[in-house]
Amino acid sequence: MPSPTKEQIIDALRGVNDPELHKDLVTLGMVRNVAVCDGHVRVEIELTTPACPMKGPIRNDVEAAIMALGGVDAVDVEFSAKVRKSHSETPSPLPGVKQVIAVGAGKGGVGKSTVAVLAAVGLARSGAKVGLLDADIYGPSIPKMMGVEEAKPAMSGDENRILPIEAHGVRTISMGFLIPPGQAVVWRGPMVHNTVKQLLEQVEWGELDYLIVDLPPGTGDVPLTLSQTIPVTGAVIVCTPQAVALADAVRAAMMYRRLNIEVLGIIENMSYFIAPDTGKEYDLFGKGGAVAAADELGVPCLGSIPINAAVRICGDQGTPADVFTNGQHGLGDAVMGTVERLAGQISVRSAQRPASSR
Ligand SMILES: Nc1ncnc2c1ncn2[C@@H]1O[C@H](COP(=O)(O)OP(=O)(O)OP(=O)(O)O)[C@@H](O)[C@H]1O
Ligand SMILES: [Mg+2]
Repeated sequence: MPSPTKEQIIDALRGVNDPELHKDLVTLGMVRNVAVCDGHVRVEIELTTPACPMKGPIRNDVEAAIMALGGVDAVDVEFSAKVRKSHSETPSPLPGVKQVIAVGAGKGGVGKSTVAVLAAVGLARSGAKVGLLDADIYGPSIPKMMGVEEAKPAMSGDENRILPIEAHGVRTISMGFLIPPGQAVVWRGPMVHNTVKQLLEQVEWGELDYLIVDLPPGTGDVPLTLSQTIPVTGAVIVCTPQAVALADAVRAAMMYRRLNIEVLGIIENMSYFIAPDTGKEYDLFGKGGAVAAADELGVPCLGSIPINAAVRICGDQGTPADVFTNGQHGLGDAVMGTVERLAGQISVRSAQRPASSR
């Protein structure tokens, strides 16, 4: 039986849907190169994120669709990725930044900054260009968590823009770099707005696939300034499993929606405990709460990150990459799985509607 032609292969791929975007790969512009040689087919599929959680199913479906044509001995599926820019009705002050993701919570201390760092480092490890903006001007913790506490950002040549600090493959900026260590700043309302606006507008990020914004706890001025200044693809809500924390998460979600910022999903942090000696899982704070809160809000639960000394130590020592490489008992997989589901959700949401900007 003769090998199929390129055109026949592309036609067959019109029958393969992206499992999250629910359109076929050809319509989505994801089929890039097709080559056929002596029954050997090679296709390049351009994903919407290098951290795509659906690589396995897409590979299987593409292989099956091509094999079904007959005359094919082997199929090589190669993945590349191009993060699509979120559409926005208003021009962005950061034209090189494709997607802006806020990480927030109703409550303090639930692990927003930890999740923001792990999301940024995880996305960067998958090959994306990532920036991390610490918008917690009251208690900036990103410099410590990224291991760059002593760093001092330089100014661009024209002295107009701040250059981020690169750490763990992530370009990072924080108010913590700009105020002397240990000093407490008393922020008045207009100062908060102006400072956060400056941080949002005046950093020379260059080209970024994702800008992760770590927000301060609560429902204050910073999310409002964020929503007014740059187009935001959506917010991730971090919560812990206790009932009171979940009520706060729902409140935080309501606030984002009032600001016209879409809620991408909930991440449950300090979820279960994995005993380091046996690997057995214990639910310290109850189970299923984040899923219930996500259901109530009609958004996905993007994953659960266990409470684990390795996470805390990485935060204290500024070594977030260790969570991915040295995590025991599936910690790294749990975190990376959560990061990938977030990346998938960003692709889905930005395909569905424009990023919000007021
Ligand atoms: N999954 C986890 N396992 C163990 N420790 C964790 C985990 N997540 C966060 N922590 C630790 O809990 C503390 C609080 O986390 P973090 O600073 O990320 O919270 P936050 O919500 O950003 O707090 P804030 O409201 O003060 O900004 C940190 O010491 C951090 O290392
Ligand atoms: Mg924080």
